[in-house]
Amino acid sequence: MFPFKIRNIEIDPPMILSPMAGVTDYTFRRLIKRRGGVGLVVSEFISVEGLTRNNPKSKRQMRFDESERPFAVQIFGGQPERMAMGAEMAEEVGADILDVNCGCPAPKVVKNGGGSGLLREPERLETILKEIKRSITIPLTLKLRTGYTESTINVVDIAKMAEQCGVEHIQVHGRTRDQGYKGLANWDLIRQVKEAVSVPVSGNGDITNIENGMKRWRESGTDGILIGRGAMQNPWIFRQFNDVLEGRSPYQPDLDEKKAVLLEFFEMCLEEMPELVALGKMKQLAGQFTKGLVGGAQFRQTLYHSHSAGEILENITTYFATLERREVFGDGLTESDADLEFDSCDAPSVIERSVSTPAAGTAA
Ligand SMILES: Cc1cc2nc3c(=O)[nH]c(=O)nc-3n(C[C@H](O)[C@H](O)[C@H](O)COP(=O)(O)O)c2cc1C
Repeated sequence: MFPFKIRNIEIDPPMILSPMAGVTDYTFRRLIKRRGGVGLVVSEFISVEGLTRNNPKSKRQMRFDESERPFAVQIFGGQPERMAMGAEMAEEVGADILDVNCGCPAPKVVKNGGGSGLLREPERLETILKEIKRSITIPLTLKLRTGYTESTINVVDIAKMAEQCGVEHIQVHGRTRDQGYKGLANWDLIRQVKEAVSVPVSGNGDITNIENGMKRWRESGTDGILIGRGAMQNPWIFRQFNDVLEGRSPYQPDLDEKKAVLLEFFEMCLEEMPELVALGKMKQLAGQFTKGLVGGAQFRQTLYHSHSAGEILENITTYFATLERREVFGDGLTESDADLEFDSCDAPSVIERSVSTPAAGTAA
């Protein structure tokens, strides 16, 4: 596995922070970038309907820091002219790459012809890609699911068409739209895409540990991989992969560092957003981050019931102090899967929900 190029942009190391609405914002991307090992970061998906109608939230979502480069903006929508205008706006703000979302399963996105809805309408997708190509000079990339339903898997044909339209990197999440986030990603289909086109291909889906991840990466023969939820559970995952690629044993953060990263994230959030929103973000990250930690389920419950920055900080300190003393926090439960579902590209509502209720999110 070697660095690869999207036109003249080096993706080194060849690993990408997968776009996640409500998660991979300016704050989270920089948190991950600081841990090292990530070769490309992508914005949350941004509505071209919002962008082209001057919606301040959509414009804010394009904000990035120089330290994030190379940086891709991902847009979604179903109208070719709007998509081209949105792409132009991303180029204007200085994005290095323009990525088109062809995977979001959320009904309100699909209903308007965007996200994975485009898998059902390859002609519309073709028009969109051609219009965008005419409007921008930065590379155009595409993020796909494998098909709309199990009986209409068409990712290989779509990838070939996209290559003909001038798409310069194809990323495949190995699930159909109908699967949502259930079942396992099909890495064999990802391999078939890699074999069918000559532009670089990156694979995506279910990479949460080095061993399995390396196996899928190797067997699929892809140029790169994208990691989404795994980066929330373990912000050092890219660094660990990179260690292995370079022949070192994977970096293992100690408890102090794990605590420090949560505090760092909270501080970054407080600089960027109102306290209530920062609390929601913190609950969202902590919900994933403490997966697998002893007493993690109990800790999450205390966080979900924290109502101020002071309370959150106190609970984090108490939890990690308990772990350091090797004592049991709460009833010592490691996991409560119901709390850990986190699988929607409709994530803004996930954050709103997490501010007011214990559940971190549910499927779109
Ligand atoms: C909360 C959440 C939001 C997501 N938002 C987006 C998005 O905005 N754009 C996109 O292309 N994929 C989005 N995805 C899909 C991920 O990028 C990725 O394809 C999927 O989670 C599978 O990879 P993983 O198993 O490494 O998480 C989202 C996933 C989650 C869990």
